[in-house]
Amino acid sequence: MKFLLKPIDPAKLASDVLVAFCWEKDLSSLRQLDEKLSGLITEAIKKEGFAGKENEYLILSTKGDIGSYKILVAGLGERENFDIFSLIKATAFTLKKAKEAKPAKIGLIIDDYWIKKLTAQQTVQTIVETVILSNYRFLKYKSQKDQLREIEEVDLIIHPSKIALVEEAIKIGQIYASATNLARDLVNEPGAVTTPSYLADIACNISKDSSNKIKVRILNKDKIEKLGMGAYLGVAKGADEAPKFIHLAYKSAGSRKKVVIIGKGITFDTGGLSLKSSEHMETMKQDMAGAAVVLAVFNALPQLRIAADVVGLIPACENMPSASAIKPGDILHAANGKTIEVINTDAEGRLTLADAISYANAFEKPDYIIDVATLTGACRSALGEDIAGLWGNSEELLEKIKKAGSVSGEKLWQMPLEKDYRELVKSDIADIRNTSTGKYGGAITAALFLADFVGDSPWIHLDIAGPAYMEKETALTPKGGSGFGVRLLLQFLKEL
Ligand code: BES
Ligand code: ZN
Ligand code: ZN
Repeated sequence: MKFLLKPIDPAKLASDVLVAFCWEKDLSSLRQLDEKLSGLITEAIKKEGFAGKENEYLILSTKGDIGSYKILVAGLGERENFDIFSLIKATAFTLKKAKEAKPAKIGLIIDDYWIKKLTAQQTVQTIVETVILSNYRFLKYKSQKDQLREIEEVDLIIHPSKIALVEEAIKIGQIYASATNLARDLVNEPGAVTTPSYLADIACNISKDSSNKIKVRILNKDKIEKLGMGAYLGVAKGADEAPKFIHLAYKSAGSRKKVVIIGKGITFDTGGLSLKSSEHMETMKQDMAGAAVVLAVFNALPQLRIAADVVGLIPACENMPSASAIKPGDILHAANGKTIEVINTDAEGRLTLADAISYANAFEKPDYIIDVATLTGACRSALGEDIAGLWGNSEELLEKIKKAGSVSGEKLWQMPLEKDYRELVKSDIADIRNTSTGKYGGAITAALFLADFVGDSPWIHLDIAGPAYMEKETALTPKGGSGFGVRLLLQFLKEL
């Protein structure tokens, strides 16, 4: 699919479907086209009671009065409420409707108000990302693929003065969206495919394709043992699949900050001996979504101009019940010397992340540590499927990541590292326990557990258990992996 900028009169564009937006109670953006179409739009608006509300649309045949074969008029809701999320929703929605006309070429008129509100770059980048992301399907295992005509070209009609500004935005949008789709592919693959070794192979391929910009090291079980990562190894113990600790490193030309991003890489989470119910286990191939984010970010890094050194760490393993699995009550020795009492083997992510965080502190001297993890069902219960939980120990870093989210259109909500709750993860016989003594606040106590291994490094924890995997289709994402966090981290890194 290609994206072209067209600094022309919308009526002159030759496309299969021309998308023209308007506001609720303000249809003025349609006036010129309506004149060219001899009042066709006005007539349809009256007939169908169209008011320009969100998700309202009309598809009209132009009968050759303008260059495009059909015109899709779509409402954006009230102008005052417009933000990046309205743009994403409206673009995804209209694309879906436009596709019903099986177009090869779509035109989309960019409204000056969007540019005023969001900047020209963000507007164009968001549209490009939305078009690519909402077009995504995981069809690898379908023997009968839908015979939908693919959109070949999207023409963005924009004021000539903005062209130079937004050319780069198209490229960036394409890179961000393909990276996000890579993360989706990885999450959507069955757990039988995306084993720790498979993720390690993906990392090696990313390094190979990077013309030496990315170095990869895969630490095998022996090396992991030598490093004393007893918490991570404890989780891996029940599985036949070997654990792989994946280490990726990207060095930028004008290096300033060093960011370590850590992705939870449980390639399948059965819960271990604290076995999950079938219902809760159904979608647990998603438990490597954090790892998928890290891999996707590294896949994109060499194509972008990023002025930071980035290290990616993935402690990948399966969480399986077996005769060799850890048992509730076992005590694990983490890499930083702390002992952990395992109460519930299903709280495994924090065990693997604890050792990865210690590794980052011991060997990487990071300016920032960011972990991304499908860590707790509690976070999904608290914030739902759209919003990731955000914790951190540095105001500066928190602000940076929130800013990135407001640009990428990924929703984050800051949660507290409540000191008084630290007691809930106190163990009677070890330094810390892996689950809370209480029933409530599970997402927070999980974050507090991680904080114990972070020390003084500026750190952020993103619990993506809600938005990593869609149980029902949304505007931007079909059911399954969403790739949440990829654009967020790329945007964050780009601004450093
Ligand atoms: N991988 C799960 C969390 C999860 C749940 C991710 C739903 C995505 C969707 C995690 O390892 C887990 O099982 N957490 C337990 C913790 C509990 C045992 C303290 C949970 O959330 O129930
Ligand atoms: Zn679990
Ligand atoms: Zn898990």
